[in-house]
Amino acid sequence: MHNQYFNEELIYNVLASKLNKIIQSYQILNIINRPLSSIFRLELVFADNSRMTVYLKKYHPTNNNIYDTIQIESEFKTTKFWYEQFKENEKYGVIKPLYFNPEQRVVISEESKGQNLSKIIFKQVRYFPSPSLIRKIQEMVHRSGEWLYKFQSVQVKEETQKIALDSLLDYVNLRLAKIVENPKIEFDINLQKKINNYINSLWEKVSEQDKQMCYLHSDFSLSNILVQNEKIIVLDFNKMESGSPFHDLSRFYHQLTLLKNKPIYQKKIIDVLTKSFLTGYGDGSIDRNPLFKIYLMQHRINHLGKTARYWEHSRIENLYSRWIVRNTMKEIYKLVSEK
Ligand SMILES: Nc1ncnc2c1ncn2[C@@H]1O[C@H](COP(=O)(O)OP(=O)(O)OP(=O)(O)O)[C@@H](O)[C@H]1O
Ligand SMILES: [Mg+2]
Repeated sequence: MHNQYFNEELIYNVLASKLNKIIQSYQILNIINRPLSSIFRLELVFADNSRMTVYLKKYHPTNNNIYDTIQIESEFKTTKFWYEQFKENEKYGVIKPLYFNPEQRVVISEESKGQNLSKIIFKQVRYFPSPSLIRKIQEMVHRSGEWLYKFQSVQVKEETQKIALDSLLDYVNLRLAKIVENPKIEFDINLQKKINNYINSLWEKVSEQDKQMCYLHSDFSLSNILVQNEKIIVLDFNKMESGSPFHDLSRFYHQLTLLKNKPIYQKKIIDVLTKSFLTGYGDGSIDRNPLFKIYLMQHRINHLGKTARYWEHSRIENLYSRWIVRNTMKEIYKLVSEK
């Protein structure tokens, strides 16, 4: 039993027995094609006529089977861990994973109702949103900050080390090396030195307390957050990994600030939203923290590298990417020059 996309046995036999139900039929509601996977939104119809919507994520094969297997198992188990942590909570949640099969490169989760935060923000904040709409969206990002704070309060199991300067510099220099060697970007080599100095001097101000680690989501972005009335539901966990709390915090913040590059968004509204996010996290001025600034710089450099790669490989939006690269560089320059 195969449709053109995946083995139907997975649905009729394995998933059915996991759910302890007889599945009579199913329907593919949507297919989302992603660079690494195709995601199928399926409606299951049970023998008792009740229905359930699930997401079946099928990863494209890569040339490293063992890696795929580990990744898929890790995605499932990590999501399961966080689902269990949050399942009693009415305000903060995690999607419910149902089943995984590494050989078929499939992970299935139950659909959480709710709207994707990236869609809400990208579509509704543009141009001239009404004050009541801004307040509504402020609430959503505020609660996303609360969600992250709650997530980070879970104690890391193993004895963990503290954040070290070397690993921060390595991360940045590895990415900068690729940017520097690309002649099209015209990256000023002096800028690399300045960035290193910038990080070094911020590091001197980092308190011991701030060097502690917590669990990371690693991709805490707008597209991995669903808003269901008052509730925030997070998805797309990859592995149990620890690192600095500032990593996820500044990742979300960075993504919001990127909207300031687009003229369809009003800068002051984006500032209001980032402030609400940080206030929800518990400290509206935490963006002045030296370690926050270091992580924000990491995200900016990462973004610069990614945008530049895009512009290398694709003709579409070529000019736009070029403009973003130049803008990001200007911004980095400004940051490392201010004392
Ligand atoms: N269980 C679920 N309930 C509701 N929506 C879901 C569920 N699983 C996936 N989605 C939707 O599908 C989208 C993509 O899922 P996911 O983030 O797992 O895939 P991805 O390929 O890692 O995406 P990206 O690389 O963009 O982060 C999500 O942003 C979300 O809108
Ligand atoms: Mg995602």
